Amino acid sequence: MLEVLTHPLITHKLTQMRDQKTGTKDFRENLDEIAELMAYEVCRDLPTEPVKIETPVSPCIGYALSKEVVIVPILRAGIGLLDGIRRLVPTAKVGFIGLFRDEKTLEPHEYFAKFPKNLDQSIVMVVDPMLATGGSAVAAINMIKERGAKQIKLVCLVGVPEGVKAVQNAHPDVDIYLAALDDHLNENGYIVPGLGDAGDRIFGTK
Ligand code: PRP
Ligand code: URA
Repeated sequence: MLEVLTHPLITHKLTQMRDQKTGTKDFRENLDEIAELMAYEVCRDLPTEPVKIETPVSPCIGYALSKEVVIVPILRAGIGLLDGIRRLVPTAKVGFIGLFRDEKTLEPHEYFAKFPKNLDQSIVMVVDPMLATGGSAVAAINMIKERGAKQIKLVCLVGVPEGVKAVQNAHPDVDIYLAALDDHLNENGYIVPGLGDAGDRIFGTK
């Protein structure tokens, strides 16, 4: 399943992020706000279970989330989505995957992994702003599946058909959420029109 979340607020904020004149502070703030808006949609199908509570007026049956949510940002750039999602799901646990893309081969290289327990019983959201070749997302999903994860959502800001296809081929069971499906990858593996290097723009490293 691929869902492109084209809510006007998401698209408006993403347009500001794409603009090369937008500096680090506004880039980061827009990403944080988009993450929260996307989380609202991504969480739409989270399972709930009935719970007995007492309101000040009477007993009633309410509904509470019945599964643990684990957010797994792909370092570095995925960090930019973490706080926005956590504001909506404050009980979520957090795992981390460190991957960087070789600039020449575009292959992902792992440098860090740390996960909470019970991935097999959790709903795991892998988050990263960019889905380019899809190599990083496929590698990250491989890593969490090796640790037992079964229900996985991939949440990215901007993707291209090449990356979507790579994830769908490797992991047809994973739901993919984007804020925009862009046109293509250029010869350097950058998304066109995209927004440039997400990590560098979030952390001001270029
Ligand atoms: C970027 C981005 C993704 C990856 C996408 O990270 O944040 O993780 O590239 O490209 P792919 O789909 O072709 O694998 P990068 O490797 O530049 O690392 P960074 O987050 O540390 O900047
Ligand atoms: N990673 C980025 O940060 N931007 C792209 O356009 C592609 C990969």
